[in-house]
Amino acid sequence: MIVDAGTVVLGIETSCDETAAAVVMGGSDVLSSVINTSIDQHVPFGGVVPEIASRAHVELLAPVVAQAIAEAGIADTRIDAVACTIGPGLIGALLVGVAAAKALAMVWDVPFIGVNHLEAHLYAGLLEDPTLELPLVVLLVSGGHTMLVEMRAHGHYRLLGETIDDAAGEAFDKVARFLGLGYPGGPAIDREAQYGDPSSVAFPRAIPDSLDFSFSGLKTSVMNHVRKHPDAVTADIAASFQMAVVDTLVAKARRAAREVGAKGLALGGGVAANSLLRERWLAACDADGIRAFVPSRAMCTDNAAMIAAAGWHRLRSDGPTPLDCGAYPGLRLPLVQS
Ligand code: KG4
Ligand code: ZN
Repeated sequence: MIVDAGTVVLGIETSCDETAAAVVMGGSDVLSSVINTSIDQHVPFGGVVPEIASRAHVELLAPVVAQAIAEAGIADTRIDAVACTIGPGLIGALLVGVAAAKALAMVWDVPFIGVNHLEAHLYAGLLEDPTLELPLVVLLVSGGHTMLVEMRAHGHYRLLGETIDDAAGEAFDKVARFLGLGYPGGPAIDREAQYGDPSSVAFPRAIPDSLDFSFSGLKTSVMNHVRKHPDAVTADIAASFQMAVVDTLVAKARRAAREVGAKGLALGGGVAANSLLRERWLAACDADGIRAFVPSRAMCTDNAAMIAAAGWHRLRSDGPTPLDCGAYPGLRLPLVQS
């Protein structure tokens, strides 16, 4: 099969609480992107409840796919392949998407493409600005991952650094819960921090002398500070915590870019929606004279356009995924050693 600028891929994403479908042509032309979420049902529990997420996907997926095709303004006969997240994620949630995607691929007699969710986040920054300049350093910051990855070619990833304890998004969620700001914590801290003074508390940056990250000490410092100063203004704590996280993320990413001679710095993952991170990222790239790839906010958090885009690249490089492929909750990013 020839995979080119006219190849239309339907993407499906069900790895966590978002039920999403998108139609993308040529790996970067987003014809539609529909996202529904069961987040409201998880809020009372302070986190995603896997069983509830799976049940919601069963109910939401068919209408979401139908809406994505309708909004793309194409007939389903125009779809050349179906791409779906096969991991990492919640097993029950993944299974709903994988089973549906395979069924559609069989009925339409088109290839099925199993997509690694982490690889898809790497592509989100490029999706809206496909004029790639390699090598690229990508910072992937989500609820489950904090990784600095060097991308030398499509599908060619080298791990430069990762968190040795909490992921950045996890730290946002835990600190927000401690401060009583609710769930999900990242957007809540982002909002609260707008009213606070980021220099009010000098939280430690705890930078290990490598490109690895550590956020668990910072989280403990926030808790200790609030226990010692019960009258502290929540907005000031949120702003100071956010500044400490963003300082660390930006400093390491810049250093990584220098070390590998990167032409661009891309952001991906849910935490990439953070206002301060986006602002500081653009300023750092500007100061260092390298290209910044910052996805729109909608493209940072889980969506199916990035799945379809990564699927298009995988179809071009590896061909279709066999239909006996499973769902893999602990799937890792495929890395090269050097
Ligand atoms: O990529 P994502 O949607 O799901 C995973 O694959 O993990 O990322 C979710 C994470 C959550 O931890 C959430 O709190 C964080 O991204 N997040 C943010 C913001 N929006 C979402 N963190 C900081 N600032 C935000 N504006
Ligand atoms: Zn994600």
